Amino acid sequence: MNSPFFKTTAILFFLVFMVSPCAFSGEVEVLHWWTSGGEAKSVSVLKDLLEKEGHTWQDMAVAGGAGANAMTVLKSRAVSGNPPTAAQVKGPQIQQWGDEGVLTNLDDVAMAANWDKLLPSVVADVMKYKGHYVAVPVNVHKINWMWVNPEVFKKSGAKIPTTWAEFETAAKKIKAAGFIPVGWGGQNWQEATVWESIVLGVGGAAFYRKALIDADPDALGSATMVKCFDTLRMVLGYIDKDAPGRDWNLATSMVIQGKAGMQFMGDWAKGEFKAAGKNFGTDYIAMPVPETSSGYLFNVDSFIMFNVKDAGAKEAQKAMARLIMEPKFQEVFNVNKGSIPCRLGMSRNPFDFPAIYSFDTFEATAAAGTLLPSMAHEMAVYPAIRGAMFDVVTSFCNSSMSSQKAAKNLATEVKSAI
Ligand code: BGC
Repeated sequence: MNSPFFKTTAILFFLVFMVSPCAFSGEVEVLHWWTSGGEAKSVSVLKDLLEKEGHTWQDMAVAGGAGANAMTVLKSRAVSGNPPTAAQVKGPQIQQWGDEGVLTNLDDVAMAANWDKLLPSVVADVMKYKGHYVAVPVNVHKINWMWVNPEVFKKSGAKIPTTWAEFETAAKKIKAAGFIPVGWGGQNWQEATVWESIVLGVGGAAFYRKALIDADPDALGSATMVKCFDTLRMVLGYIDKDAPGRDWNLATSMVIQGKAGMQFMGDWAKGEFKAAGKNFGTDYIAMPVPETSSGYLFNVDSFIMFNVKDAGAKEAQKAMARLIMEPKFQEVFNVNKGSIPCRLGMSRNPFDFPAIYSFDTFEATAAAGTLLPSMAHEMAVYPAIRGAMFDVVTSFCNSSMSSQKAAKNLATEVKSAI
């Protein structure tokens, strides 16, 4: 046992298996759209964890909120037979990639860590294709948030609204005091983000389900939908003329800098406040979008992995999937990103108030049946239907189209997209 041969072999074994963190180091090329200050800070956590295990992270960031540009790039890469190793893809689109037969099965990683026990079924179900894990969830984002600059409200003598009628009163005061009431990003997905929250608030959870999840033409063309568009028209009266095309994080900056009073946006906006060194409660406040406090529109970011041949790349994919679900990543990433962990049983201690509120309302709304997938953020309907909804909402926002016509168009266009 003490022979020099044994000692050398033992040292070699130690060097190979203990010092180098994995048997095969590989490269992952990761396609994602997290390019704003808060987003980039968050995703760097995953890169660091993978690199610590000896893998290489090839960054393929495609700018553009909500991932529309990233999805275009992904499709063209896949069509040309050169998909990335991993890509940020969500909701029903995971099923569409599953249908293509190009995804890596992640069951071994999922079984080893018992993902079925660690994930709420509302999340786990979306990650599976025909009962097998093909995607790994990162977080849960809540969409129906309103981000407020309290100083602007104070200087305008306005009260933070909880109803759309209160919003109108506050917005008038903010405008009269020389501020922009709403920091608005005139891009189709941002317009749809606000619209879907209005549909939840004005129509209620059952109506949201019928219209935006079941895509029921009667609900889409109904008098309730007309009311939703009326509310959207009223809100549009309080945005600035430079809104068209504005990125969401620039709209958040308007609130951060005290140019605008509020922004309606998912809780990735909190990542921007945090990255700018702002403190919750004093520098900014978060409240549910008016009239939506009893509902929760959710959005789960996730990664799919494409079939690869290289053993190192396979190893790196599995490591990435494993690390994403581990508590360390779930905590640090989500504290920075503004979302909450998708992994159950995580300590709430490192999280601030909006996140704690999100934890609580996620559970409460799941029990009440008002936890609903976001249409705007790709959780509720297939892309063709979502595209039809986006088209109508964006034409409404950028013209003087009547609410009646918008509801009618919505019903017809969605019907022909189904
Ligand atoms: C994603 C977020 C992202 C946001 C803005 C959403 O669809 O889920 O992770 O921060 O878009 O790009």
